[in-house]
This record gives sequence, C-alpha cells and structure tokens, in this order.
Amino acid sequence: MEQREKFSTRLGFLLISAGCAIGLGNVWRFPYITGKYGGAAFVLVYLLFLVIMGLPVMVMEFSVGRASKKSIALSFHALEPKGSKWHIYSWFGIAGNYLLMMFYTTIAGWLVLYFVKMIRGEFVGLNPEQVSGEFGSLMGQPGLMAIYMVIVVVLCMLICSQGLQNGVERVTKVMMLCLLAVMLVLVFRSVTLEGAGEGLKFYLLPNFHNLMYNSAGEMILGEAVYAAMGQAFFTLSLGIGALAIFGSYIGKEYSLTGEALRVGILDTFVAFTAGLIIFPACFAFDVAPDSGPNLIFITLPNIFNAMPMGQLWGAMFFVFMSFAALSTVIAVFENILSFCIDKWGWSRKKAVAINTVAIIILSLPCLLGFNVLSGIQPFGAGSGIMDLEDFIVSNNLLPLGSLVYLLFCVTRYGWGWDNFIKEADTGNGLKFPKGIRFYVTWILPLIVLCIFVLGYNDKFRIFQQIQVLFA
Ligand code: PHE
Repeated sequence: MEQREKFSTRLGFLLISAGCAIGLGNVWRFPYITGKYGGAAFVLVYLLFLVIMGLPVMVMEFSVGRASKKSIALSFHALEPKGSKWHIYSWFGIAGNYLLMMFYTTIAGWLVLYFVKMIRGEFVGLNPEQVSGEFGSLMGQPGLMAIYMVIVVVLCMLICSQGLQNGVERVTKVMMLCLLAVMLVLVFRSVTLEGAGEGLKFYLLPNFHNLMYNSAGEMILGEAVYAAMGQAFFTLSLGIGALAIFGSYIGKEYSLTGEALRVGILDTFVAFTAGLIIFPACFAFDVAPDSGPNLIFITLPNIFNAMPMGQLWGAMFFVFMSFAALSTVIAVFENILSFCIDKWGWSRKKAVAINTVAIIILSLPCLLGFNVLSGIQPFGAGSGIMDLEDFIVSNNLLPLGSLVYLLFCVTRYGWGWDNFIKEADTGNGLKFPKGIRFYVTWILPLIVLCIFVLGYNDKFRIFQQIQVLFA
C-alpha cells in the first residue's frame, strides 16, 4: 500500500479546494442561470442559500474527510456506528463523481478548443450568424469534440499521476493564481465598455418581477428557487465527497469552519466576478442575457470581435474559463483515483491507467448526444444526454448527498453531533456556531427536502398530472 500523502501548505489546501469548487459552475452555469431567472434578485436568493445551506454542509464534508483520513470509499465505514448502513452512500457518491465528469470533460474540451480558435484568430471578421454557425457546426463534429475531450482527460490524469503534492497541488496552485489575475483584468475591460451600465443594473439591482415571471409572463418563482438551491450545492461541490477528500489530506492546525468560509468566499468571488465580466459585455453589445447554456460560446466571441484587441481579450477569457474547468476536473479525478486506491488497494499508476480509459469511454454519450444520438431527448425537444446527466447529478445526487452528510453529522444514528463538532472545531480559527444546532438538525434538512420535492413537481408537473388522473 502506498503512503498517504498530505498537502505541503495550507495555501495549497485552500487553493485546491477552491479550485475544485470554482469551475463551470461559476463561469458558465452561474451567469446563464442568473440571466435566465432575471438577474440580481436571483443572485440574492442564491447568496442566501450559499450561507444557510452550503457553508454548514461544507464544514461537515471537510470534517468527515479529516476525521476519517479516507476518501468517500471508506470514510463512512470509518466513522459510522457499528452495524449501520451509511456506507452504502459511498457508491452513490462515487457514481456522482463519474457522472459529473461524463459531461464536464466535454464542456471543458469546448473551452480549450475556443481558446485555440481565439488565438488563431478564427473568429476575426465573422458576423454574428457566422459565429453562432461555428458553434452549431462544432456540435455536428463528434470527432473534433472527442479530440479535445481526450486532451482534457489525459492532461488532467497526467497531472494527477504525479501525486498529490507534485502534481495536483503544484499545478492547481499556479492555475488558480493566474485565474484570479486574468479575471481582474477582464472585469476592468468589461465594466469600462460603453453601455456597460445597463448590464451592471441588470446584474446588481434586484427586480423581483424578473424573479417571478419570465419574459413570456409565465410564473417561474418555484423553478428559480429550486435552481438557486441546485446552483448553491453545485458551485460549492457538495454532496458527493469531492471536498471531503481534501479534508482528508490536511492536519489539525486550523478549525474547519474558518477554512470552509475561505473556500466559500473565494468561490463566490469568482462567480460574482464572472457575472461582472459577462453581463456588462452582453448589454454593451446587445446580446440577450437569457440565451441559456450557449451564452458564452455564441455570444462572447461576437463581443470580442467587436472590441479593439478582441483576439487578445478573447484568448484571455477562454484561458480563464479553461483553468477554472481544468482545476475542477483535476480535483474530481483526484477523488476518483483516491477512491480506487482506498477501496481496492490499487497503486496510483494503475488507478490512473484504468480511469483514463474508463472516463474517455464514459464521456462519449454526452458528446454523441449532440449529433449521432440527438434523437435521445429525455426532457423533450432540444434537450440531450448532457441535460440528463446534469439533472441526475445537480438536481438529485448533490442535494440528496448533502442531506446524507448533514444527517450523518447531526443524528446519533450517524456519526453524531458531538463527534462532528469536536472535529470541526479542532485547530485555530472560527468555531462552528453551536446556536444553530436546532436549525441544522431540524429545519435545514426539511428545507432541502421541500425544495427538492417542489422542484421535481415544477419540472415534471407531477401534482397536476395526479390531479388529472383523479379528475
Ligand atoms: N463546483 C464545481 C463547479 O462549479 C462542480 C462540482 C460539483 C465539482 C460537485 C465537484 C462536485 O464547476
């Protein structure tokens, strides 16, 4: 059995946890969801959920990781009371990690490809239709998409194969610092564009009508709240042990509430800043902010086209997006590898070799879903395999998994409150507020459950269908 490594520095731990949290959720999902649900008012709901749901669960994940010193493969086994069955969740958790990667690697590949296209000046001189045509034609080229997906998988696995300190920590640290620097430059560029003010208004001044009704006048409040909760769990990487693993690689010097707060703030900062880059630019160049998941691929190249030195800004923008996505891929790969190492005693090399092949194969359905398999439309016209995978992970495994971590830490049938608090509070720094025990034990699980059920109802109109059945 190989020796279990630790992070070399605290900064390493913080930047890698932040690197895991900061990803497509911040730079791609957050802006388009915010655009879809009307801007600033949605951002408020989302921030509320981050604080009242996300942070407590993050402390719990870190605690479970640090106390067990194991990945999700064995962490529940190590801490659960004898005879209990919490460890069954480890299979769902790891399935969540694989499912997430099954679509994440494809989108990360698009970002890298767009970076290459920007550098080569492929968008220069194209009109808006031609730019959107470019994206459309990419969807019809599974070969090209597969090449970039494979590049992403192999590159990230190579980094992980170098080990925790030499690979993951060294590379991610640099990428995260570059990312923060590039972002600041881009924000400056975007908010000083002519006409940026309207975008800032949309993004920063709440308008609750926009949160309740969409542009077609349909009521969307329930859906919006559900989306805000899903986004809070997604962006913080909660519910499938993706952060717990990094808790397992640190010592007891610092209390975990303080560390979680730092990671949460970094993550929120990046999401917020991504909005500051994207919305002013959209309004300055007359692009609808609610254009959906394609927002950054169809609209942004246009925007860069219309800017002086657009090729440079565009390349910087996509490098920033790629770094965010790659740091998440590396982090989740580390979790997957460490699962295999803990569970089956594989060497890191063997885990890397097998998982590289497995993840490449598993990523194919998503990218084929845009062309060869486009007949599969799980949620009706226009949806694809990616939407199904995203739905299973983001709207099911993450909230329900967070619920598992939550209940595990607060009930005596699980690890229990006292053990959890003792672990969370070990070390210097902020302690977990004891006054919220009643809230996290009784109220928080109910909120998660309620929003979960209501969200399902909104998506599938279940209650209405039942009424129809009995009418
Ligand atoms: N937080 C990541 C992002 O924002 C996604 C993620 C979710 C990663 C769950 C791991 C676990 O892109």
